[in-house]
Amino acid sequence: MKKRVLTTREKLPGRGLERLSGAADVVAWPGTGKPGPADLAALASGVSGMLALGNDPVDGALMDAAGPSLRVISLASMGFDNVDRAAAAERGIVVTHTPRVLAETTADLAFALTLSARRRLGAAGASLASGSWGLFRMHDYLGLDIHGATLGLIGYGQIGRAVARRAHGFGMRVLHHDPYAPDDDLSSSVDLTTLLAESDIVSLHVPLTEETRHLISVHELAAMKPTATLVSTSRGGVVDEEALLHAVREGRLHSAGLDVFEREPMGTQLSPLVAEPHVVTLPHIGSATEATRAAMVDLAVDNILDVLAERPARTPLPGSPGVPGIPAGAAVARP
Ligand code: DGY
Repeated sequence: MKKRVLTTREKLPGRGLERLSGAADVVAWPGTGKPGPADLAALASGVSGMLALGNDPVDGALMDAAGPSLRVISLASMGFDNVDRAAAAERGIVVTHTPRVLAETTADLAFALTLSARRRLGAAGASLASGSWGLFRMHDYLGLDIHGATLGLIGYGQIGRAVARRAHGFGMRVLHHDPYAPDDDLSSSVDLTTLLAESDIVSLHVPLTEETRHLISVHELAAMKPTATLVSTSRGGVVDEEALLHAVREGRLHSAGLDVFEREPMGTQLSPLVAEPHVVTLPHIGSATEATRAAMVDLAVDNILDVLAERPARTPLPGSPGVPGIPAGAAVARP
């Protein structure tokens, strides 16, 4: 008899879902809005696996609704802050995610945000579209250079390194702050205070954890140059959005490029950051290319199929059964 697997979407890019349906009975959340834990719980009884996306909340109650058959929670995302990993570990459930396959694509988008925010592409394009480009004037649409600037990467894992490689093509000096990553030939390791003070662009590449929540808040924004740009493709909760809004409005920060927000999705309740002329905002599209999203689904499906066939998962998260956890307090420290 085939095992049952719950997916939080009826459609996913690529052929992964087809492969999963060949090997398991797939039950999919049929709604069009973001499913809450109770919506998923109503479908979960007796499933052996769950395939969820990066911002579908998966808590202990949902795991209990599935019952003891649940062996694997597979995220089609690199981020994993939406899953209660302690609850999963207590229940012996493997939690997996999709590292590597999205690093280059997300780094492309971090660079696109950097270019767009510093060169004010959105504002210039909107001015053209509104018919306001009546005269070529030397002082219109002035931005700040990217080439030759200093880039500070907070978090220097796969995506941070991929951004650093791109930065070298632009002749940038690259710094990083990450307790796990020493200097390499792309970037110099510095403390957070130095990174904030010296960078023209600060780009965030840490996961959202208790240690990184509001890592960028009033104090950190005040420590940045007034000509600096903050870029985030990690998770909204890493930035204190209220503090960022004030810093940009008061001219204490040149600009920001944000793909992620504290509240996602926004629907019609837009964050005030969306209307800020010096802030470029996107609806969490860091990994959104056809090839990368298909690769994420494929890896998420492979992880489920492996665990259900009693093989080790390909990309389990630290702390999953049989996988060492990250020591408490080891994430990026405050200055
Ligand atoms: C990720 O992989 O974490 C992306 O942000 C999509 O959820």
